[in-house]
Amino acid sequence: MRIAMTGPTSLLGRNVLFELFTHYRGQLEQLELLLLGRDKPDTPLRERVKEMFAAMTPDYFSETQIAEIYGYLDQRARYIDIDLQQDKLGISEDDFQSLAAARIDFFFHIAALTDFRDLPIVVETLKRTNVEGTRRVLDLVTALRVGEFDYVSSAYTCGVSTGEIQPDYVNIHQSFRNPYEHSKLQAEIRVRLFKLRTGTRCRFFRPSTICGRLNAPPLGATNKFDVFYAIGAFFLGVKLQMYPWEERYNRALHLSFRALYSLESGLNIVPVDFVAKAMLCIAMSGDPGENYHLVNEQETPHALYVPLILDTLRVEGVTRVDQMPQQLNEIEALYYAKVGKLYTPYVTSAPILFNTDTARALLDAVNVSCPLISRENFGLLMDYARQHDFGAGYLAALGQ
Ligand SMILES: NC(=O)c1ccc[n+]([C@@H]2O[C@H](COP(=O)([O-])OP(=O)(O)OC[C@H]3O[C@@H](n4cnc5c(N)ncnc54)[C@H](OP(=O)(O)O)[C@@H]3O)[C@@H](O)[C@H]2O)c1
Repeated sequence: MRIAMTGPTSLLGRNVLFELFTHYRGQLEQLELLLLGRDKPDTPLRERVKEMFAAMTPDYFSETQIAEIYGYLDQRARYIDIDLQQDKLGISEDDFQSLAAARIDFFFHIAALTDFRDLPIVVETLKRTNVEGTRRVLDLVTALRVGEFDYVSSAYTCGVSTGEIQPDYVNIHQSFRNPYEHSKLQAEIRVRLFKLRTGTRCRFFRPSTICGRLNAPPLGATNKFDVFYAIGAFFLGVKLQMYPWEERYNRALHLSFRALYSLESGLNIVPVDFVAKAMLCIAMSGDPGENYHLVNEQETPHALYVPLILDTLRVEGVTRVDQMPQQLNEIEALYYAKVGKLYTPYVTSAPILFNTDTARALLDAVNVSCPLISRENFGLLMDYARQHDFGAGYLAALGQ
């Protein structure tokens, strides 16, 4: 099996790699991996992928299997230096020839800029990376022999729609919570037009809000702490302005803080290892369908997880409100300028019911199901986030 993938260093991409190594356990010689990502000035992509594997190795691999995987990553996997923002992805002739040497069974396009900010520089970079970058990937695919192109989109390409959303719903006149959502729809439309033009087999995977692992240990594992994690990161940052580092979790912080979120709705949160497994199961099933919501069957009520985040940080004195509060105090002003600005549209939306029929029919047959984000499972996500100090995201959450 010859598989190409952009974004092997992403949260989702690394979990797709783990799933591939699980699927090909004991028969890695049957897997030819072409990993398209960025060399960093001091760390080539090969080393970045090995470091990432070391940081989040699934517990179920034995010592022998781990050694085999490192051997594979060192000697067998092929690393292709690309930049989505560069003309022709900046691919060298040698790398192009190795991609073109044989038919690629599955080409997963996972890489994207996942930045929710509405700043001119970010909007421009989203366009260059997500929209133009996807066009460049499609130009590359056109020049290769690719059996199936698997595009990772987003459930939130539905924009501000609420109620039941079908997995093939596309509305170019929709309004969006942020330019990132819009860029993902624009990129998806480019893939849909490419499919019509070339007849290439394409699938569209639409995950909702991705969280850390919950199917298999290390439970809670993630390498980034954005979206709902950013609320915790913010309050950790506030505590660190006031308390010594050693007291950041055990000393309570009493605040007067009004948190705006809806009691009627929740956030659709989906564990990354479920999304990765589901993508591979569906792609390899040969299913004639194309569009799949990879989401949780139920929203997690904001009224459940927001208090759990605050408990994790031992933040007290937060009251929920229905309307944007007026005359903000200093901490509220900072919160709504930095974190609330990005995430308030998600926590005040009416419920969204992403229809999962197309994915569920296939996943039920192979006993793959999405863990619900119960109080207990959300607690596991918070345990991991706490052990990793929210990835030092408290600095970004405070805008530093
Ligand atoms: N996270 C979510 O909640 C969520 C929800 C729905 C859909 N998605 C979609 O799922 C996919 C994976 O998301 P993620 O959150 O796992 O991603 P992520 O962790 O933010 O990683 C982004 C990936 O894109 C790569 N990338 C960014 N700019 C690039 C460029 N100019 N050239 C080459 N590579 C570039 C990054 O490479 P470097 O390591 O070199 O920076 C990294 O591998 C994305 O398509 C995203 O839109 C994510």
